[in-house]
Amino acid sequence: MGSPGNNCRLGTHPILLSLFIPNPISAALRADGFGETPFYHCLVAEILSAPGEPQGPCVVGYGLYYFSYSTWKGRNIYLEDIYVKPEYRGQGIGSKIIKKVAEVALDKGCSQLRLAVLDWNKRAMDLYKALGAQDLTEAEGWHCFRFEGEAMRELAGK
Ligand SMILES: CC(C)(COP(=O)(O)OP(=O)(O)OC[C@H]1O[C@@H](n2cnc3c(N)ncnc32)[C@H](O)[C@@H]1OP(=O)(O)O)[C@@H](O)C(=O)NCCC(=O)NCCS
Repeated sequence: MGSPGNNCRLGTHPILLSLFIPNPISAALRADGFGETPFYHCLVAEILSAPGEPQGPCVVGYGLYYFSYSTWKGRNIYLEDIYVKPEYRGQGIGSKIIKKVAEVALDKGCSQLRLAVLDWNKRAMDLYKALGAQDLTEAEGWHCFRFEGEAMRELAGK
């Protein structure tokens, strides 16, 4: 019998994604990702049950991405979030999701797949490096910034 990673299917399912994220975010997740003008796209990883097994497909992870743009590099894809349930980690499912996002990126004419990771998340960083990603903080000294809440309202004068 193969490992669960080999028996894993990637698809897109708004309801299955919502299972992972608690209310009230899940309603916005469905609307923003699966409405008429999606703000993001999402791959959901399912483990398929073997023939004869009673239960249906079991959702074990997801990768949420969207398209962005670089003045110098043109079309990019940004992997905003990737998650695999703890009991299914280390079986190749996360790598499968990242490889599929890379495939989508190339199909859509993107030249880069970008993502950010917190500095304590050494195992995730090791995984990205093992798959060939470059650490832009180490290599080029990039810092990540955001405006949020009051800072954003003040900025916009609202
Ligand atoms: C990072 C993550 C998506 C990887 O998924 P995965 O299915 O375990 O990935 P793969 O099986 O393809 O690769 C396994 C590698 O991932 C790395 N890894 C990172 N976090 C890990 C964890 N908590 N458990 C096991 N492996 C982990 C290891 O380097 C491992 O390599 P090894 O098997 O040689 O030890 C998954 O660990 C996860 O969901 N972590 C919590 C959420 C998170 O940190 N997301 C990244 C935010 S940027």
